[in-house]
Amino acid sequence: MKICGLWVVQVVTLAFFACGDDIQQNRNDRGTFYYGSFPSSFSWGVGSSAYQVEGAWDADGKGESIWDVFTHRKGKVFMNQTGDSTCDGYNKVKEDFELLKELKVSHYRFSLSWPRIIPTGIQAEGINEKGIKYYNDLINILLQNKITPLVTLYYWDLPQNLQGRYGGWQNVSMVTYFNDYANLCFERFGDRVKHWITFNCPWSVAVHGYETGKHAPGMKLMGTGAYKAAHHLIKAHAQVWHSYNKNWRNKQQGMVGISLTTDWGEPVDISNQKDIEAADRFIQFHLGWFANTLYNGDYPQVMKELIGQKSTNQGLGMSRLPTFTSQEKSYIKGTVDFLGIGHFTTRYVTSRNYASTHIPSYYTDRDLRELVDPRWPEPESNWLCSVPWGFRRLLNYVKTNYGNPVLFVTENGASEKMQCTELCDEWRIQYLKGYINEMLKAMKDGANIQGYTAWSLMDMFEWEDGFSERSGLFYVEFQNKNKSRYPKASVPFYKRIIAANGFPNPREVENWQRNSLETCSTMNQLLAADPLTTHMEMVTEIVVPTVFTLCILISAVLLMILLRRQS
Ligand SMILES: *[C@@H]1O[C@H](CO)[C@@H](O)[C@H](O)[C@H]1NC(C)=O
Ligand SMILES: *[C@@H]1O[C@H](CO)[C@@H](O)[C@H](O)[C@H]1NC(C)=O
Ligand SMILES: *[C@@H]1O[C@H](CO)[C@@H](O)[C@H](O)[C@H]1NC(C)=O
Repeated sequence: MKICGLWVVQVVTLAFFACGDDIQQNRNDRGTFYYGSFPSSFSWGVGSSAYQVEGAWDADGKGESIWDVFTHRKGKVFMNQTGDSTCDGYNKVKEDFELLKELKVSHYRFSLSWPRIIPTGIQAEGINEKGIKYYNDLINILLQNKITPLVTLYYWDLPQNLQGRYGGWQNVSMVTYFNDYANLCFERFGDRVKHWITFNCPWSVAVHGYETGKHAPGMKLMGTGAYKAAHHLIKAHAQVWHSYNKNWRNKQQGMVGISLTTDWGEPVDISNQKDIEAADRFIQFHLGWFANTLYNGDYPQVMKELIGQKSTNQGLGMSRLPTFTSQEKSYIKGTVDFLGIGHFTTRYVTSRNYASTHIPSYYTDRDLRELVDPRWPEPESNWLCSVPWGFRRLLNYVKTNYGNPVLFVTENGASEKMQCTELCDEWRIQYLKGYINEMLKAMKDGANIQGYTAWSLMDMFEWEDGFSERSGLFYVEFQNKNKSRYPKASVPFYKRIIAANGFPNPREVENWQRNSLETCSTMNQLLAADPLTTHMEMVTEIVVPTVFTLCILISAVLLMILLRRQS
């Protein structure tokens, strides 16, 4: 996770919303649960990403990534936490494979760390064979057990060298370096890996990496940085797709896609044209920015118009949104074998004009306001409201607007706060149940969804939130050196959805829920026993001797007083 859409500017709670009840009733049989099965070929999985779970940040010849540098700088992440060791996944391949086996998933989505494979990011400067071996071992253990690897090439951990020396994604030369890296991965792993995702949520890379600075490399190039980074990310994706198409596809017969994470945006008032247009801008500036470009060959019209117009008003000679040549457009168009969709939550959207005198920024360029409905259930994590019907609308939008492409849901799930050591994650069960059900409805509507990836396999380093949010199906005890994993209640629950390949009937689904919540209380005791042991050690080592000594001293004093009185 993170849940890519997380940085929410001006999300306001819809305090009073007169037409809310009508909306609830009128739209798409929201609220009615659909009992039914998925196609027999449907693939169930879980996911993680390299920087979030691997740890071992400087082990065995790995180079520094921008996230290593970013987290080592103080004041960037919650409590100055880092992913230096996180879940120690690098040393726990076999153990974590057992977790996948327990769930009986048919695919596992993970990412390769570019600097673990090419320490400086530049292939000519050296390859780290130990890093390659780590991923080979992981891929092999999955395949021996019929778990399909769904491999992401870039999950935000750019080699620091490329950032420090050349400006990272602000520099078009990243296209070449990334293409070299991708070709090396196709060469070394492509005999076994058939599902490639170039980028995970390029929106976040662009907006948080180069505009808000919330993510590594932490640059704040307001109004230009995100657009420039995205321009190069799109070019890099297209080039890698063409490389695969030309050099590897015949031999390896795989697919190359991209994973776009986006919120759904719903007009506040569906009878108000301005709200409808604002909601459309919300989608175009988020999903369309990449999807429209990859499917139709250019940025969404509304982005070109709005940013162009604002740039002119701001006295700039040209648009802050870069342009593609017609050659580039045809090169980029159609470079997606499958589309990965990441999705977590929904916003209501209404129009808002920002004067051109406003400091230029991606957020003000959109001319809108985001709102949430106070009735939406909110987990402990305060940005992620559970709005299952938004998922169905998003999937249908993708189906309609991009020619019903082959889809994989690459991330979907809920997080809760760190302080919650509770394994009985009823909240997550409700979330998964609702969202997976809406996905099933979208498939009945005709969306071509081939697989679903619950996010995430286990609790992990959550970017700027450090370990303060837990998104895992498995709980990780970070304060324990062993980083022990414990199943939350959502493990048996998700496992049953997988085993039944859907939702058979109300009675059974209710039973799943009840049984899952029963097993977790036993697990809770196990977990609770752990800190207790440390506590008890403290009692024997410090408290007992201290109390003992004090007792003797007090007795001695009392005895002396007694003796004096007597004498
Ligand atoms: C994080 O580091 C900064 C800078 O050194 C320091 O001011 C701050 O107190 C640190 N925060 C915590 C929680 O340690
Ligand atoms: C972009 O990267 C190239 C190396 O590939 C470098 O020569 C050039 O100076 C970089 N441009 C900027 C503006 O840093
Ligand atoms: C470490 O954790 C794993 C489970 O995550 C457990 O199987 C193993 O026994 C633990 N080892 C120690 C030394 O606590």
